[in-house]
Amino acid sequence: MKLKFLRRLLCSIVLFAVVISAGAQTKTGDKTEAKINAIVKKLTLEEKIAMLHANGIFSTAGVQRLGIPGLMTDDGPLGVREDVKEGWGSANLTTDSATFFPNGSALAATWNPELAYRFGHDMGEEAHARGKTVMLAPAFNIARTPLCGRTYEYYSEDPFLNSRLAVQAVKGIQSQHVAACVKHYAVNNQEVERGRISVDLDERALREIYLPAFKAGITEGGAWTIMSAYNKLRGVYCSENEYLLNQILRGEWKFKGIVISDWGGTHSTVNAAIHGLDVEMGSGPKYNSYFFADKLLDSVKAGKVSEQIIDQKVRRILWVIYHTSLSDNQPAGKMNTLEHSKTVYDIAAESIVLLKNEKHLLPLNTSSIKSIAVIGDNATRTFHLGGFGAGVKARYEVTALAGLKSRLGNSVAITYAQGYSGVYRPERRSGPKGVAKVDSTLIPNAVAAAKSSDMAILFIGGNRDYESESRDRKDLSLPFDEQALVDTVTAVNPNTIVVVVGGAPYDIGKIKKYNHTIVWSWYNGSENGNALADVLLGKINPSGKMPFTFPVDLKDSPAHALSAYPGENLHETYTEGILVGYRWFDTKKIEPMYCFGYGLSYTDYKYSGFFTNKKSYKNGESITATLKVKNTGKYAGKETVQLYVTKSGSKVERAEKELKAFKKVSIAAGETASVTLNIPVKDLAYWDDKTSKWVVEPGKYKLLAGTSSRDISESGTITVE
Ligand code: BGC
Repeated sequence: MKLKFLRRLLCSIVLFAVVISAGAQTKTGDKTEAKINAIVKKLTLEEKIAMLHANGIFSTAGVQRLGIPGLMTDDGPLGVREDVKEGWGSANLTTDSATFFPNGSALAATWNPELAYRFGHDMGEEAHARGKTVMLAPAFNIARTPLCGRTYEYYSEDPFLNSRLAVQAVKGIQSQHVAACVKHYAVNNQEVERGRISVDLDERALREIYLPAFKAGITEGGAWTIMSAYNKLRGVYCSENEYLLNQILRGEWKFKGIVISDWGGTHSTVNAAIHGLDVEMGSGPKYNSYFFADKLLDSVKAGKVSEQIIDQKVRRILWVIYHTSLSDNQPAGKMNTLEHSKTVYDIAAESIVLLKNEKHLLPLNTSSIKSIAVIGDNATRTFHLGGFGAGVKARYEVTALAGLKSRLGNSVAITYAQGYSGVYRPERRSGPKGVAKVDSTLIPNAVAAAKSSDMAILFIGGNRDYESESRDRKDLSLPFDEQALVDTVTAVNPNTIVVVVGGAPYDIGKIKKYNHTIVWSWYNGSENGNALADVLLGKINPSGKMPFTFPVDLKDSPAHALSAYPGENLHETYTEGILVGYRWFDTKKIEPMYCFGYGLSYTDYKYSGFFTNKKSYKNGESITATLKVKNTGKYAGKETVQLYVTKSGSKVERAEKELKAFKKVSIAAGETASVTLNIPVKDLAYWDDKTSKWVVEPGKYKLLAGTSSRDISESGTITVE
């Protein structure tokens, strides 16, 4: 801490001298601008180039003689990653244990932007305490296929839900003077061949589905940095894509910050430099051989890249530095506080989705239950690390079993049996194939425990070794033959609750058909077990809603139905266009296993009295819809009211419905809440490929309010003039 302070003091003194010597530029103009200009004038070309590429796995060089620090980046999004040394091995520090935050799809399942802000704020606080200037988070590529290995890291299949969460996560992180790095820009929707594949899609799908959350993160959230994706868009790598970087990001969205390449995702010097990349990051230690190192220096000297372009990049980096490590009034930074644990707990508690509760086994009636068999590898497994990619050296993580034990104390006897082995070894890093160790010798103990207990709680699903960056899953099946365990345990104890843990859709069709009680949980952070136990015990009434569609069969999913995944000859055309996720299932009338927005509660809600403030609107106005939601059950709860819009008789293809607003409200038992939702008329626009503009089509629109995308109980019609 002391060292950090001295370093900052020294930086300030040196920089002050630089600014004064430059003639204290302007009193009226932007002070930061003046400081930046003064610094740029002092820098040699070599110093500037050194700022544009990695000099360590997560760092870039500053300019010591001028007191300019380098960028200190770190992953996100599960929390601030542990420090590593060259080669990615642990730096073996004792100061980098961090809070483990719930995974992206868990956060999305809360449908709660306030929690996204707290997630960002607390992670930013930890990043700041660790001296990081850029958090490589949030990550929110669209869940186009349920197989994508990073579905757990991302948010959802819906651009609107993604956008609302992204904006708040960015604001939260940056409130701590740490730059958010929104990633991965753009159309990085699968891991198979992510480094080489070229995505082709129509402009409308790009604008309506894949870009909105990036646009919102930049224009509303004000993100200071963005990470270009590994893949190509229309034949051009995202890290050198003029259209994405210079035209859309800087031209249309007025982005002022820096574009950082994904690690090892830069493929050229001149093209990348001219077309918008600012900083090249990578994993290999030969930093001088990077495209943006000696080769860039040579290219400038040879006149292939102008020094003006280099100066622009340096200016942007300094701009980010003045918002982060050299900003005024820096917050203190905090690690592993009780508040951070509370945020994790609240996210976890609100993310858990009750899928089925037909026998009302939940919440658990502890006055009549004397013994519980807790079964399954996922009851004792932790999720802060695993697979390839970013994890967290968690300061602590409460497993499901530990959570249940601590909440139940001695009042209920718990017997644990592993039931299945969750060991998974990928065959090769980038391929979908791998080997799950199926060990049926673990089943007899589980059956014995279930037989001798009042009830069984089975913890099955995926894990962080199975769902991983750099590979997609090969199918939706439960990886460790857990179905056999579910079948045998359910056969001996009908009071069996199945808790499925995962970050992406799985095929749980047989469980849905034959089991009466199903709960969905996630890689839910340090407080995982506590939140889960409190949901099972009814201290928390579940309010999570699925952020993506669960297909009955993988072939029902758009990219798979159209054989538009995983591409051929390193090309993939998104032939489903705008019909991603529920937009496809609804429009094509395909019944999903669980629809987008689905999730039950221990109570029931009744919707009524829907009305809009007007019947007819002009562009530029906002539609205000109001309805009543009554909690008709015995438990207080939180309900997410979802408002979808349908446009029939449109002159362009439309999805059956699209989410345009949602609101999560707390309602006490027996109470009625009045819920108001707003939709700016401009949000009804479609992207017109012919004119390359957003167009709000005049005519009638139907507004559909419901508790999920397929459970709509109130509606109204409005006209746009
Ligand atoms: C991932 C990024 C991550 C980077 C640094 C890459 O493999 O795609 O999301 O930030 O590594 O760890």
